[in-house]
Amino acid sequence: MRQFLNERLPLAELGTHLRKPLPKHINLLFSLGSLAMFLLLLQAATGAFLALYYSPSPDHAHNAVTYISEEVPFGAFVRGLHHWGASAMVIIVFLHLLRVVIYSSYKAPRELTWSVGVLLLLVVLGFGFTGYLLPWDEKAYWATVVGVEIASTAPVLGEVVAKVLRGGAEIGAVTLARFYALHTIWLPWLAFGLVGVHLFLVRYYGSSGTPQNTQEEMKAGKPFYPDQVFEDVVGMLILFLILASVALFVPVPLEDVADATNADYDPRPEWYFLFLFQLLKYFQGPFEIIGTFVIPTVGILLLLFLPFLDKSERAVLWKRPVALTVTTVCVVAIVGLTILGASSPKLETQAAPQSTEDIQGAAPPETETDEAEEVFDFQLTEEELE
Ligand code: HEM
Repeated sequence: MRQFLNERLPLAELGTHLRKPLPKHINLLFSLGSLAMFLLLLQAATGAFLALYYSPSPDHAHNAVTYISEEVPFGAFVRGLHHWGASAMVIIVFLHLLRVVIYSSYKAPRELTWSVGVLLLLVVLGFGFTGYLLPWDEKAYWATVVGVEIASTAPVLGEVVAKVLRGGAEIGAVTLARFYALHTIWLPWLAFGLVGVHLFLVRYYGSSGTPQNTQEEMKAGKPFYPDQVFEDVVGMLILFLILASVALFVPVPLEDVADATNADYDPRPEWYFLFLFQLLKYFQGPFEIIGTFVIPTVGILLLLFLPFLDKSERAVLWKRPVALTVTTVCVVAIVGLTILGASSPKLETQAAPQSTEDIQGAAPPETETDEAEEVFDFQLTEEELE
């Protein structure tokens, strides 16, 4: 059998390639990329299980999620893995990005590996945004109203993007079907395609190691297989055990079914969007667009093109004062805004109530609402100003 396969496939070459030594100085932070990949696969597997029971319609979605959590054997556990796995994914991908910044691994010739990585980060956030609506409970509905409203403020294309996401004038049956399609078909294809390109580039250029490696040390470390693979697999097992314990002991929240007439609801996005949500509150009236569009867009563009903008010598982050200051300010701002966003009181909302029929999808919305555009006002309440 072995001979049969050897004659037909380049197994010997593959073996030699996998056994190639890595750079000498490599630490545990170099396993974060593999952990991100493991989580992507875990999300795909648990999501495939959830899809067996889920139904993307306003009449059935909430019931289906309740059924999964309460009736399906291991349903609550698998839903827990998927829910907490999404948060873990955002944390691990962010830490992986930080490790790449710390060792300036994004510098030539790895600029494209970095830019594809930034696209992957956006896809991961896209999974979070589209998945949040699927349980069709109050928080899902109202956070999506705010999210789509933010998208609509972008100049030129904002309104078109918002309409495409909503699938009409209001959040309803078509929106849920679209978010489900994005979450389970479009984004997974995009994610696996981008991961393919990312990993091809990583293997093609080889690991960058830490900047302390000399030219000789770059090929003097442990082999990728079996040593590094073994460490990565141990990391995956530990991560899985942590996630499984959280999934077993911390129930995934599910609020009442979405009610579009509940104007008093205090909308809040998932925790990893809280920093953006909080940022919006500091830009009012005509300056709103700075928080909703200018800062996020400039931030993403700077991140995408970072390797082409930063032409300094490769060195560890603490030996690059400018990079260290910028990175620290960004991390402190994101963490600080997230904490403020989590503890801040209600946003002042001027919700335009919809009829229950509209959200149930029973009656297609008739009006081309421009009224729906002004649903939220990101003004600070008096309480917050204090
Ligand atoms: C789903 C998301 C992602 C997956 C599955 C993933 C996977 C990986 C893997 C397995 C590696 C090799 C091991 C390692 O160096 O840790 C790697 C390396 C790399 N990743 Fe990612 N990554 C993701 C997101 C990102 C992001 C968001 C960035 C940065 C914006 C990024 C930039 C890089 C770079 C520059 C390398 C090469 C590092 C080196 O050679 O030292 N990746 N990635």
